[in-house]
Amino acid sequence: MLLNPLRRNPPPRAGIPVAAGSFPAVGHLPALIPSMLRFIREQEARLGPLFWVNRGFGDHALMVLGEPAFELLANKVTRSRDGIEVLAPMMGESMILADGPAHRRMRGAVARTFSPKGLGGANAGRTMATIIEDRVARWEGTKRLKIVPEARELALDVIFAIVGVPVDENAEWRRRYDSFLLGFLNLPTGIAGSPRWRSQRARRWIDARMENIIERAAAASSADLVGGMVQGRDDEGRGLTHQELVDNLRLLLFAGHETTATVIAWMGYHLAADPDLWERLLAEVGPETPLPTTSADLDRFPFALGLFREALRLHSPVGLIGRKVAGELELQGKRIPEGTSVMVCVADLSRDPERYEDPDQVRPERWMKDRVRAGSLETVQFGAGPHFCLGYHLACLEGVQFMVAFASSLQRRRLRLARRSLPSSIEYPLARPSARAVLELERV
Ligand code: HEM
Repeated sequence: MLLNPLRRNPPPRAGIPVAAGSFPAVGHLPALIPSMLRFIREQEARLGPLFWVNRGFGDHALMVLGEPAFELLANKVTRSRDGIEVLAPMMGESMILADGPAHRRMRGAVARTFSPKGLGGANAGRTMATIIEDRVARWEGTKRLKIVPEARELALDVIFAIVGVPVDENAEWRRRYDSFLLGFLNLPTGIAGSPRWRSQRARRWIDARMENIIERAAAASSADLVGGMVQGRDDEGRGLTHQELVDNLRLLLFAGHETTATVIAWMGYHLAADPDLWERLLAEVGPETPLPTTSADLDRFPFALGLFREALRLHSPVGLIGRKVAGELELQGKRIPEGTSVMVCVADLSRDPERYEDPDQVRPERWMKDRVRAGSLETVQFGAGPHFCLGYHLACLEGVQFMVAFASSLQRRRLRLARRSLPSSIEYPLARPSARAVLELERV
């Protein structure tokens, strides 16, 4: 792990210790990017559950570990506007940057649409199943599957279908969307051709089409997810403004694909790393098993759902969740000033040895015993509190649909995954496996 030997004992800030080993300019990024969890655990052993981390260019955030961290996500003393300078041009007035009454109104208006019942009514499960089966069928001729880019394209196609993009426009949307993502680099210049300029141009392209999609859904009172968002009202009869609809649909593109794609790729790698997992999946999924299309259908796939939860727990795509302190806050007897960036380490909570026996091992059965209902600590990979992932039910369904489609297709072709070790990965800012690693398929 790369730490600066000249900064072994940096002086404390505001009476709180600073993690060792930051470099000029890049801060702790050289340790965070490849090995965030190890770095945090080593610092915790030296400094305790509260310490500063330099996220690069002097941007210090307070790492808060253990149960108090969990309370921060309730947003009673914090707000969601950490990193707003980078996020606002990308996320606009969407719910992920809103707090208090504005957030409650938006969530209230769309919550029913994203519930298991709402998803069923909008036929979302069937829409996703068609896209997933189609994508898996396209792998038929291949023996070497580049699962990371493939899972990404799959997850993007799924979310495009969910927000009503016509299938024949997917390739163009993917291209524009990749340009849009350049905005996260947050490079200062906006001159023609620069990443920021390309991102803004792509955003205008996406938004113009989102507006058409919204108009069509409103005119036709359509029963799909976009229709649900357009017509959705909270308990006081208030809905989303036109701009909020555009911003939230754009948010769905981002929130709904990178995360799911990562988990899909990790499930593939774990199945290849442990033949026993593959055999247990085949005990649940035959060559012609139909895909689940509703949350209730997931009861038929306890092993696949358990494996999805384990891949998510071990490789949470969102390893850290940031917040801004919004008022008086005291942690470990220390007063934390208003405006401080705080970070909750989901990756650490997910592998807590007090909560999980053998926390580093894949054990789908953890989730299968007596059909355990996952509590808020067990689903922390989806956040907690008012911003808990809106796409939770959709993501669980998509993950299981993928596994059923994949296992069925391989059986029909009399193939299985060749054994391989888990690939290298990066852990920050979003955790993901190396895009170069492939899954090899071999004859049974
Ligand atoms: C495995 C897949 C997924 C993971 C791990 C995940 C994780 C998360 C996390 C950690 C948050 C909370 C962020 C915060 O508190 O700041 C969140 C929020 C959100 N997610 Fe997901 N997500 C996943 C899939 C999806 C999907 C498929 C969709 C939509 C189709 C989606 C839509 C959203 C939205 C809209 C929010 C913001 C909610 C709010 O601010 O009230 N997510 N997600």
